[in-house]
Amino acid sequence: MLTVMSDAAAPREENRAPEVEVLISADRIAARVSELGAQISHDYQNRPLRLVGVLKGAFVFLADLLRSMNHPDVTLDFLGVATYGNASQTSGEVRVTKDLDQSIEGLDVLVVEDILDTGVTFHYLMTALRNRKPASLRTVTLLDKPSRRIRPVQADYVGFSIPDAFVVGYGLDFAQRYRELPYIGVLKT
Ligand code: IMP
Repeated sequence: MLTVMSDAAAPREENRAPEVEVLISADRIAARVSELGAQISHDYQNRPLRLVGVLKGAFVFLADLLRSMNHPDVTLDFLGVATYGNASQTSGEVRVTKDLDQSIEGLDVLVVEDILDTGVTFHYLMTALRNRKPASLRTVTLLDKPSRRIRPVQADYVGFSIPDAFVVGYGLDFAQRYRELPYIGVLKT
């Protein structure tokens, strides 16, 4: 039998990973994502919109953003990218692990990113996608670390601007771990 627990019996902020210090709580994320969803729905009203989620980190944000939108014609595709390097240091070399399933030519495209850090991945993606001739190309990132930028790029919509710290949770990983945390936190080690 499936037992459904009430919210009260399952507090969202219980500390599932003691080595991760909470930076942005699940409630704050939910509130901001719903603001972004409303803003984006408004900005693209009467225009079909294609969301392009960047795997893997953006999948949780994308799922919540999509459900917070009130838009009659929104479709979805995914792009997979990986950067060579160790778990917390970007090497600057970007590799596509999964291409889009469908053409974006002539479409209004909004790229959904987890975090904008050095800007290397973002710059690579935007150049590659622009070559495919979308009608418009904009980006939303949940997190922005402007102090780390080595490429002069910025997102059109930003969830939270954060200091220079390596963060995990809500889809973001360290060595593929911690993606399941409902909040965003800083690894204490
Ligand atoms: P870039 O440095 O802007 O190219 O970011 C490359 C990618 O590194 C991002 O899309 C994330 O997947 C990952 N990344 C950057 N900073 C963090 C972080 O603080 N935590 C987890 N992943 C990160």
